[in-house]
Amino acid sequence: MKYSIRIEKSSSSRLSQIDFSNIPFGRNFSDHMFVADYKNGEWTDLRVVPFEPFLIHPGSMVLHYGQSIFEGMKASKNNAGQAMLLRPEMHAQRFNRSAARMSMPDVPEDLFLQALHAIVHIDSAWIPPQEGSALYLRPLMFANDEFIGVHSSENYRFIIMTGPVGPYYPKPIRLWAERVYVRAVKGGTGEAKAAGNYAGSLLPAKLAAQRGFDQIMWMDAHEFKYIQEAGTMNIFFVIGDTVITPAADGAILKGITRDSILHILKDKGIPVEERPIAIDEVIAAYHAGTLREAFGAGTAAVVSHVIEIGTEDLLLQLPPVDQRPIGELIKSEINGLRSGRIPDTRGWLVPVVG
Ligand code: COI
Repeated sequence: MKYSIRIEKSSSSRLSQIDFSNIPFGRNFSDHMFVADYKNGEWTDLRVVPFEPFLIHPGSMVLHYGQSIFEGMKASKNNAGQAMLLRPEMHAQRFNRSAARMSMPDVPEDLFLQALHAIVHIDSAWIPPQEGSALYLRPLMFANDEFIGVHSSENYRFIIMTGPVGPYYPKPIRLWAERVYVRAVKGGTGEAKAAGNYAGSLLPAKLAAQRGFDQIMWMDAHEFKYIQEAGTMNIFFVIGDTVITPAADGAILKGITRDSILHILKDKGIPVEERPIAIDEVIAAYHAGTLREAFGAGTAAVVSHVIEIGTEDLLLQLPPVDQRPIGELIKSEINGLRSGRIPDTRGWLVPVVG
């Protein structure tokens, strides 16, 4: 191991308080977290410590200007009980692309990966055994200068916290096609997994909820014509026999689950297209009876079926979930890879080493 990580073990475990058969998303945190501080141009004091709150100076720049990025990943156990990570290097690389866009320092890929292995190894008993559940991993980096002028911070904290999770959206979702607010614009921060992108989505999501919708279907910022994302996820449509997802255009988050889905579909010989997709095309397919499926895809949810899409003058009601072979296939492939039910022919799974 290249980096020296100090380990301070928790004196007791909270694991016995967790019911693995009923785990809400994002509310439970495992016993330990990884922490490192960036000072004088380098990552220092690498440590695994008991999970607990830490103090932040009221002038810490992240609180004022939101220079903060994160990743969402999962660790699972295969049927031999071995803890596994899925494509962790993709997350490390995206984290650093987000860091670059937000004018933050790199976390060297080998440091990121070593920290992941260390934290998952120490809390591997927190990985839920059942397929579809996992240990959610949340790497986070934030600016930590104690200064309220506006500049790129010189001090940062990088942490990885973890917690067991069940499915993120257990039910099919209803999407509101948003034509007032936008998530991202080319040249903006939409390709980065930046905290502020999520903050800006909350008001439109709240307004959509008042109309009875679960999430926003984000549209392009210039014409409100092309579809971008679904809530916090990438979006896929099945029209006729073809799967279509919006092309990464500089405003869309390049999801790792999105990438895995594209590989899986191509390997199975299912026609798939990455290209701009206009809402008018989806509506025309709906009227023609060829809109077979729509689903959101992300690490947290894996696949989340879209059951309805609302616009100002139309409510698209999609086929029932039991008639969704593509979405179900994807979910089964990704969850099955993680559990070891489906062989990993692409070298995506990485066993966790202590
Ligand atoms: C994901 O789908 O993995 C996400 O990014 C959702 C997360 C913000 C909870």
